[in-house]
Amino acid sequence: MPSFTPDSELELLFSPHVIPAEVKAQLGSDLHMRPLSRTDISRSHLSVLRVLTSTPDLTERQYAQAFDTMRSCPNTYYTLVVISRETDAIVGVGSVFLEQKFTRNLGRVGHIEDIAVDKSMQGRKLGLRIIQALTGISERVGCYKTILNCSDDNIPFYQKCGFEKKENEMARYHNVATAPTPAPPSVPERLHTPRL
Ligand SMILES: CC(C)(COP(=O)(O)OP(=O)(O)OC[C@H]1O[C@@H](n2cnc3c(N)ncnc32)[C@H](O)[C@@H]1OP(=O)(O)O)[C@@H](O)C(=O)NCCC(=O)NCCS
Repeated sequence: MPSFTPDSELELLFSPHVIPAEVKAQLGSDLHMRPLSRTDISRSHLSVLRVLTSTPDLTERQYAQAFDTMRSCPNTYYTLVVISRETDAIVGVGSVFLEQKFTRNLGRVGHIEDIAVDKSMQGRKLGLRIIQALTGISERVGCYKTILNCSDDNIPFYQKCGFEKKENEMARYHNVATAPTPAPPSVPERLHTPRL
């Protein structure tokens, strides 16, 4: 069984100090909460996401490229994981990404996405701790609100996490690529792309 990898040996998506210490302190001693690392594909990240939605396999390279794309946007993507210290495997995940606005006095909004807790660990307040940590990050970095979409079935869970139901979600789906979407071009490349 792989032994627990300390944060100091990992390439992390953001500084671990951003995660509220009071939330980490409430996890069981068998668990550790930290930012996503560049090699977390080998720690069951995709399997845990499969409790939420279909998540095809990726190669290590594709995974690392997606990680690099997120990390190239500083102070924007905050994906955190809960790790079992015994197995070094991920048992819970969640993300918040920050949207810069022109309205609200140049305010920022935190969008929570992709919350998933491994089936074997559900009901141990991991989902609650992940949401507390993500809303804590969102608040700490100055967002005036944190929002998310969920199914009717999960409304009671999010209410227990302190959220209230507001307005409606609208969606328009596009042709879903069968292969992973390539990383967007770098900013200078984008600036030189001719208009279609
Ligand atoms: C939804 C999910 C994240 C909850 O995580 P969890 O760790 O099992 O939940 P917690 O133990 O933190 O639950 C916190 C509280 O919410 C309640 N709760 C959790 N899920 C609930 C649900 N679907 N309906 C009603 N209450 C729920 C718990 O009973 C607990 O209540 P308590 O404080 O009175 O004991 C988890 O079940 C999951 O991963 N589900 C599949 C993926 C998914 O639906 N993700 C959310 C996408 S929007």
